[in-house]
Amino acid sequence: MLTTRRQALKTLAATTLATSFARFPLLAQALPAAPSPSKPAPTGPFTLPPLPYAYDALEPHIDAETMHLHHDKHHATYVTKLNEAVAKEPFEGISAKPTKDVDDLLKILSTLPEPLRTAVRNQGGGHSNHSLFWQTLSPKGGAPKGELAKAIDADLGGFDKFKQDAAKAGGGLFGSGWVWLVLDGGKKLTLLTLPNQDSPLSEGHYPLFGIDVWEHAYYLKYHNVRADYIAALWNVVNWDFISDRYAAAMKS
Ligand SMILES: [Fe+2]
Repeated sequence: MLTTRRQALKTLAATTLATSFARFPLLAQALPAAPSPSKPAPTGPFTLPPLPYAYDALEPHIDAETMHLHHDKHHATYVTKLNEAVAKEPFEGISAKPTKDVDDLLKILSTLPEPLRTAVRNQGGGHSNHSLFWQTLSPKGGAPKGELAKAIDADLGGFDKFKQDAAKAGGGLFGSGWVWLVLDGGKKLTLLTLPNQDSPLSEGHYPLFGIDVWEHAYYLKYHNVRADYIAALWNVVNWDFISDRYAAAMKS
């Protein structure tokens, strides 16, 4: 069993890296040396994506000040620290090089050496999770559509039950983490929680939507009442985006 898993990981790593290098050939070159203390922190290869809407677009459910802090400070810090980590890491003994797609690194997390593995898990996970999170929110709100709506009925007992179960999971998650709607390896919808910034991609799942239940996501407006934040969040979930993401994943 262990041998099979190791072989599968090696195959996944080789495939992922080959794809990444084909897309970003310059990334296959050697990394530059770590900068001296007098130089500014590295600014790449990872970058902070802009919000796809105004900071106050999700008011009154998610306030603009929270969005500023969440995106401009918390997400930005994950990106900065991830860039610092890959600049320091000599990548000795492995063929992996940082790619512009952090998701590729998260998929091969278990093959990375320490301390890079921890940096990718925490900072890379934070970057990936938040990059998806911004896209899955919208002032329009709405409900699942098309094949996703049918799959939620079939796999999760319907939209109302899914929301109830997700809220319960979020309330029961100790400390910081995320509630995830994912496609599992068998392309079934699954609801799960992961601690900290752990990515479903590192567990063999494909994330469709995550509820960030770190206190930084809600404390300014909702204080310690996480349940109120989750209840409000349903008003601004971009189900059009998530439904399209599901449909694309099912075709791949
Ligand atoms: Fe967050």
